[in-house]
Parts: sequence; structure tokens; C-alpha cells
Amino acid sequence: MTDKYTQLVSHGLGRNVARKLGLPQPALLRRYKPGQALISGPILVQGASAGAEELAAILLSWDLDVRRHAVPREKLGAIILVMDELAGPEDLEKPVLSAASSLRDLAPSARFITVSRPADGAGTPSGAAARQGVDGFLRSLAKELRAGATANGILLPEGVSATSPSAVAALRFFLSGRSAFVDGQFLTVSTAEGRLPSDFEKPLAGKVAVVTGAARGIGAAIARTLYRDGATLVLVDVPAAGDHLAGVANEVHGTALQLDISREDAGQRIIDHAVQRHGHLDIVVHNAGITRDKLLANMDHSRWSSVLNVNIAAQLRINQALMASEHFRDSPRIVSVASTSGIAGNRGQTNYAASKAGVMGLVRATAPLLAHHGGTINAVAPGFIETEMTARIPLALREVGRRLNSLQQGGQPADVAEAIAFLASDAAGGINGTVLRVCGQNVVGA
Ligand code: NAI
Repeated sequence: MTDKYTQLVSHGLGRNVARKLGLPQPALLRRYKPGQALISGPILVQGASAGAEELAAILLSWDLDVRRHAVPREKLGAIILVMDELAGPEDLEKPVLSAASSLRDLAPSARFITVSRPADGAGTPSGAAARQGVDGFLRSLAKELRAGATANGILLPEGVSATSPSAVAALRFFLSGRSAFVDGQFLTVSTAEGRLPSDFEKPLAGKVAVVTGAARGIGAAIARTLYRDGATLVLVDVPAAGDHLAGVANEVHGTALQLDISREDAGQRIIDHAVQRHGHLDIVVHNAGITRDKLLANMDHSRWSSVLNVNIAAQLRINQALMASEHFRDSPRIVSVASTSGIAGNRGQTNYAASKAGVMGLVRATAPLLAHHGGTINAVAPGFIETEMTARIPLALREVGRRLNSLQQGGQPADVAEAIAFLASDAAGGINGTVLRVCGQNVVGA
């Protein structure tokens, strides 16, 4: 699915006309490709804490061009602002204004990343105010950046250092083209768990991953991305999508399992297939989902129950089977696809939004249960993504949906897939029970 308008206004005559008429000018985003440099341009690491110093040393060890002080008029690939020792609101001004003076030097598709601590746990009202202040600051800055640049934050509770594996992995994710459509978001690293890969190009090497709803759209993109990152794939979809499913399975050298995930025995069927065909099971991505939109006044039993059944009840049953299985015990990962509709609500989608909000609730509550087995469960909440589903939306509505975010464009299925691949990796072992939005900072739902 393409967004022809973005192509048209990204260069030449189209760009000039859009500029003159004051029309949105979405940038062509820098998306990850294997072998691509992590970031194009020097990285300015600001902040006086030990955390800032340690992160700068890690970036240097990756052979990146790192600055601890701005060089006037030098184009920057990224600014990392480490504010992990804020004691009160007065501590915000110095780092923030010092970063401000370099903003005009950011290159296209540059990154601005804060590293700070969550307000809970600050111990004093003044500390909490400062920490929460970073939230408003970063989300506003993300709305000010242009040319495909994004701003995101990493939150580290007390006891989790800036150099813990998942903090470093999150930093790498936010710096890279893998996070092209993630904007204005915070990712909490809750523990020092996690292991960085020996090969950053193949972070899922040796893993067996199941993706539901993999015959098309976002699910097929997830399959391709996990395969690219080294995983062996089991692809699940309904029998009616069997031909497409086989096509994607062939492409990623995986196996296809024709299965309606709302069947009572779906969890066991998935485990049996993965173990019999591939020896083990490490990652499950709950992507399959349906919409049956109607205003609530016209809602009927079938529309309500089918959506709740496929989008939540099936996941709950499959998770139960997974957690009861001895084959899902070695740092297992579950990633669920939610939706920004479940955060902000959407007219005509009471059933769908209830189901997707439900997904976020189940993820939070399942996190401690999975942590018991050294595992994690997280959700990704996509905003407007260019798929067959959104291509069916009437043109005017579709245009509104795709432009109402800080990047002024819809995301690609691969953008959702990149976030899922990151959360499914060993390096993300310290991230558990969170929701990461992949929405270009959609104005809907903050
Ligand atoms: P899609 O409709 O193109 O693909 C969904 C796939 O799931 C289809 O292949 C379908 O056959 C399969 N599926 C449906 N019910 C199933 C069942 N009972 N058992 C097995 N497979 C089943 O949808 P799309 O756009 O790729 O969305 C994927 C996920 O992303 C869904 O959970 C959707 O709610 C979510 N999402 C999509 C957004 C978008 O903008 N496209 C935005 C936010 C969330």
C-alpha cells in the first residue's frame, strides 16, 4: 500500500507546490535495511551524570561518532539527553536549553532521545514534578521536529542503570531506522534482565516464532521481519487464507498452520506444531485481529462477540496453554498487537476498542506471570497503518487518518513489525508489561 501524496511532495515541483499552498509535507522516513549504518551523522550525548558518560562510552564502542559538546553548525544524526538525576523542576532548564541550541542542526530523520526516570519512585513531590516534566517536554518537542526526525524517551526506574541491556537495546532501537514511525513515546525498562545479541543484524537467530494472522497485511510483514532477523517461523491463519499463507510461508522458509485461533484447542495445536516441526517455541506474536464496525446503537451480538472472541478471548486461551507448557520456558516472549483505538476510542468501534484496550489490560496482568518463567509479554499499538484494511476507508476519511500525526503520514506494516521484532528479542528481556505505540505520534489519544 502506498501513500502517493507523500511520494509526490517529497521532491521537485510537488514539494514546491505543497510548500506554497501550506499543505502537509510528510518526509520520506529513513527505514532500516540490513547493513545500514545505525544513524547518519554524529551523536551528541548531553548530560552531566555518570549515566551520560557510560552511554557515550557504549556508543563509542560501536564505532559511532560521539560528541559530548556541540560543535557549531555541525549536522547531527541524534541528540541523547540524559536526565537520570533530576531532583527538582529547576534541574530541567539547563539540559533542555542546552539541547535546544542544537536542534536546528538536526539532520533529516534525526533522533532526539531522553533517558530519565519515571515519576513514580521519585520519593519527593519536587522530584516527581521534574521527572513528569520530561514527559510533557518530550511529547511537545516531538510535535515540533520536522523532516522525519523523531523524539522518544527511555524510562529507567530506580536500580536500573542506563547501561542495563534493555536500556542499551532500547537506545539502539530508537536511534535506528527500525523506529521510523515511533514518535513521542516512552519505553520503560523495568529490570536489568536481557542479553545483547552477538550479532545486531540477527538478534533472533536460533528462535522459533509463531505469528498469527500471517497471510497478509501486518502479519505477513511481521513474518518477513522476524525471518530477516534470524527467526524460524510458524505462520498461522484461517483455512480460507490458506493459499496466501502458504505463499508467505514459502517466502520466509517457514511452516504454515491453517488454524482458526478462536478454536478451544488453538494453543495446544500451535505448541504441538512448533515443537514437532522445529523442536521448540520461543516467541508468539498475537497479530490476528478483526473489525466489525457499527455504532453502538446498531450493535448486535454477532458483531460484538466475534470481535471480542478473536481479539481477546483467543489470546487469553492461547497464553494459558503456553504458560502451562514445558516447551515455553526458555526466556519466552509474547507480543500482542493492540491499537490506538483501544487508547483513544474510535467512533463506530466500541467492540474493537474494547477488545484492543482489553489486550493492553491482559498484557499488564500477564507480565508478572511470564516473568516467573524469565519471559516477557508486551503490546504494540499501531496507529494508522497502510494496509488492505485501511485502504478500504473512504478517501477523505483516510486522508484525515493518515495526516493526523506528527509525521503527517501513515505507517507501513514493516514499522509495526520492527517494534515487535525488538520486543521479541533477548535484548528486550528487561521490558515487560508495556505498550509501545507505533503511530507517528497520532494526535488521537495523545
Ligand atoms: P488484516 O485484516 O489485513 O489481516 C488480519 C489477518 O488475520 C488476516 O490474514 C486474517 O485472515 C487473520 N485472521 C482473522 N481472524 C483470524 C482467526 N480467527 N484465526 C486466524 N487468523 C485470523 O489486518 P491488518 O491490518 O494486517 O491488522 C493486523 C493486526 O493489526 C490486527 O490485530 C489489527 O487489529 C491491528 N491493527 C491494524 C491497524 C491498521 O491500521 N491496519 C491499526 C491498529 C491495529
